[in-house]
Amino acid sequence: MRILRAVVAAGCCAVSLSAAAQQPAAAPQEAPYKIEGGRVDQGTYNGYRRYGNSCERCHGQDGAGSSFAPSLVESLKHLTHEQFTEVVINGRQNVTTSQQNVMPPFGQVEDVVLYIEDIYGYLKARSDGALGRGRPQRVANQ
Ligand code: HEC
Repeated sequence: MRILRAVVAAGCCAVSLSAAAQQPAAAPQEAPYKIEGGRVDQGTYNGYRRYGNSCERCHGQDGAGSSFAPSLVESLKHLTHEQFTEVVINGRQNVTTSQQNVMPPFGQVEDVVLYIEDIYGYLKARSDGALGRGRPQRVANQ
């Protein structure tokens, strides 16, 4: 029941994002976030929060990177949406360097899987330069 309620809650914001993601590659891609007058939509704000809970400890504040893991602001300039999703769900291990860099798989982590589109939207906004650092302001009445 708890899971069901979470899915319903995520449904309100994730629908338009996934619709944009399913457009054929040839069509111009709609941004997976909305920012009006410096304020973000609910999904992007939620992505910011989820990022802080699950990713920030390795990827740094605001996606800027750390000594543990790369800057996702930079990564999303070249990763496709599909590649992003694939790495987050399945994880990845870079064994070519002397140090092992492990991106854990989040496929079983409800708090990430349910909100992966929001996390992507938030990071894409950061990567596109549409959103600065720090806690974003939310659009009212959403
Ligand atoms: C325990 C530390 C850790 C956590 C937590 C973590 N990551 Fe990672 N992540 C890494 C490392 C290390 C790499 C680089 C792996 C490699 O080099 O193959 C990575 C790589 C990635 C990449 C690929 C970057 C690229 O340029 O190819 C993406 C996308 C990513 N992480 C997203 C996330 C998201 C989203 C979250 C939160 C849901 C998250 N990560 C949480 C450690 C972490």
